Amino acid sequence: MARKLLVTAALPYSNGPIHIGHLAGAYLPADIYVRHLRQLGHDVVFICGADEHGVAITIAAMQQGITPQQVVDKYYTLNRDSFAGLGILFDNFSRTSLPVHHKTAQDVFLTLHKKKKLAVHETTQLFCPQDAMFLSDRYVRGTCPVCGNPDAKGDQCEKCGSSLDPLTLKNPLCAMCGATPIIKPTTHWYLPLGEYQPQLEAWLAEKKDWKDNVRNYCNGWFKEGLRERAITRDLTWGVPVPLPEAKGKVLYVWFEAPIGYISATKEWAAKIGETDRWRDYWCNPACELVHFIGKDNIVFHAIFWPAMLMDMKGYILPTQIPANEFLNLEGRKLSTSQNFAVWLPDYLQRFPPDVLRYTLAANLPETKDTDFSWKQFQSCNNDELADILGNLVNRTLTFVQRHCAGCIPPAGTFNTADNAMLAEIETAGEEISGLLNTFKIRAATARMMDLARAANRYFDASQPWATRTSDLKRCKTSLHVCCQVLRSLAVFMHPFMPFSATTLWQMLGLEGHETDVRWVKAYRPGNIAGIKLGPLSILFRKFEDADIQPEVDALAAAIARIEQKERAQATPAAPPIPPALHPSSSPTPATPGAGRPIGIDDFNRVELRIAEIVAAEAVPKATKLLKLTVSLGTEQRTVVAGIAKQYTPEQLLGKKVVLVANLAPATLRGVQSQGMLLAANDGETLALLTLDRDMPTGSVVR
Ligand code: 2FM
Ligand code: ZN
Repeated sequence: MARKLLVTAALPYSNGPIHIGHLAGAYLPADIYVRHLRQLGHDVVFICGADEHGVAITIAAMQQGITPQQVVDKYYTLNRDSFAGLGILFDNFSRTSLPVHHKTAQDVFLTLHKKKKLAVHETTQLFCPQDAMFLSDRYVRGTCPVCGNPDAKGDQCEKCGSSLDPLTLKNPLCAMCGATPIIKPTTHWYLPLGEYQPQLEAWLAEKKDWKDNVRNYCNGWFKEGLRERAITRDLTWGVPVPLPEAKGKVLYVWFEAPIGYISATKEWAAKIGETDRWRDYWCNPACELVHFIGKDNIVFHAIFWPAMLMDMKGYILPTQIPANEFLNLEGRKLSTSQNFAVWLPDYLQRFPPDVLRYTLAANLPETKDTDFSWKQFQSCNNDELADILGNLVNRTLTFVQRHCAGCIPPAGTFNTADNAMLAEIETAGEEISGLLNTFKIRAATARMMDLARAANRYFDASQPWATRTSDLKRCKTSLHVCCQVLRSLAVFMHPFMPFSATTLWQMLGLEGHETDVRWVKAYRPGNIAGIKLGPLSILFRKFEDADIQPEVDALAAAIARIEQKERAQATPAAPPIPPALHPSSSPTPATPGAGRPIGIDDFNRVELRIAEIVAAEAVPKATKLLKLTVSLGTEQRTVVAGIAKQYTPEQLLGKKVVLVANLAPATLRGVQSQGMLLAANDGETLALLTLDRDMPTGSVVR
């Protein structure tokens, strides 16, 4: 019987491109699953969209020097197009910045508010005095109170996975300016999750067919006891809280983002001209709701979101949440901030989409973290796609082309081997489908390739090259059987490798599209005798080492960069003070790394700014000193610097350098110096610190 399903894939933040970790976590398994459901004839809507609010966006905007709107516009288009490039075909890829989403999210908030389900409290929060704003979530970084990771985000520690309250961070710092925050009162609205715990536990206890990782994770949360969670934030970027007393506040991104699944379905319904159609899914107890996510999203989808839905009368709850573990890259954790990833838009410029789909599908982190490496990618392509599947296609079709006038030959009488091969098609079809339906996509991928392996064995054993002269009927029958396998394989391949499936279908000269054939119809031989083959091509080109090497090298360079940074962080050095630059400093050169370690507060007391040297002249009777006039944009300062041996006044004009702007003035040779320039100094050579790209004078240096 046809089922009705609404399948979603986590809404990716519009703050950067999609990488292979995202794909393996949610998008590829979701797409494979949906394609298969369609082959089974089920009614399925596949929903995704860009998560365009939250601190992830505003921080990206700050880092890239553009507005949040520019950030989300840029990545919305990039991600939508690169998903399509990989054949991830959503029915709608929406955006949470759309009015339909703002309204839907506000309505959900108001429903809960009117039902008096929400709590309101005055609370205290970290506030950055320099930036004059509350520091919610990722606006704060500090030491994780659970595992001691020194760089935990305010809302979550990526190392131990703990969900955090920024106030519990040790040594909290403003993520924007590095200042130590103060604590200030503010009012927020909360979802009292504790009150939902009995209901949630009972609901989850029924989900015996859910993956262990999801159930264990939730049980861990229940054991600790659910606590209320703030669902509003003091931010300007987001969905405004729809209450007059909540001016200047927005909905917490994790409150409104899952509602994005509903608004995206509404947008889909409007686009197909059936405005109310979304209710057929969301408000239909017969509809199954399946959320594909990565493991970092489990708590939000399996606890937080169902709790919200429980109070929205008439809405269905998630039927399945097949969360995946993480994909690592060359043995290391993928990292967006460290640019350690394989980015989808880059990939698509260099390699075919199906090879990545296959490599990832064959290695999905379904039960534990798995690893992607370029060598493995090369071997999946060369040893499996090209040597097994591609070889089967190539040897069968070139044989038909050469020796059967390019037309699929008719079958004679089937012998035991033929019948066994035809039976294996049906077995494979049933098993692949069973595995896909239970979210064992990795095993399904392997099973699909096993069918090609079996067909190669059949081809070898049938020896058409010999029977061509000894028993032409036999030769034609075995080629016919091979073509039947290829026809079924095109259908079976479709969820995993849709592009190659279509190419194979066309090479077979079959009518229409491989998606026209229902899955179970592909179990049985098709009416293919006499069909003229289409133009033949190589389905999977092999990759030479030289094709892969640039990728391997790029990642090795990234690893070297990261390790160097880690080493530098592990051995904190007291900042060496270049004595030559300030007349009042000690004549003894400072030893790098010497002295007691300082805290970040100490460091933050030093005001460093970009200054432009606008005038320079020698100081009479002083061979080492130059008198400089530097501009900070809003003011000019005189600085006496001991750099006359290394620089002529002319060389310095126009240079942008780093000025210690809050150093107490000192007088030397009758000239007052109002600051100090930073330079590297090993006792012999000296080099001023300059910028590697232009920045406005007066810019703060951190
Ligand atoms: O982790 C993320 O990338 C989130 N943007 C996922 C949101 S999923 C859903 F709730 F919208
Ligand atoms: Zn700050």
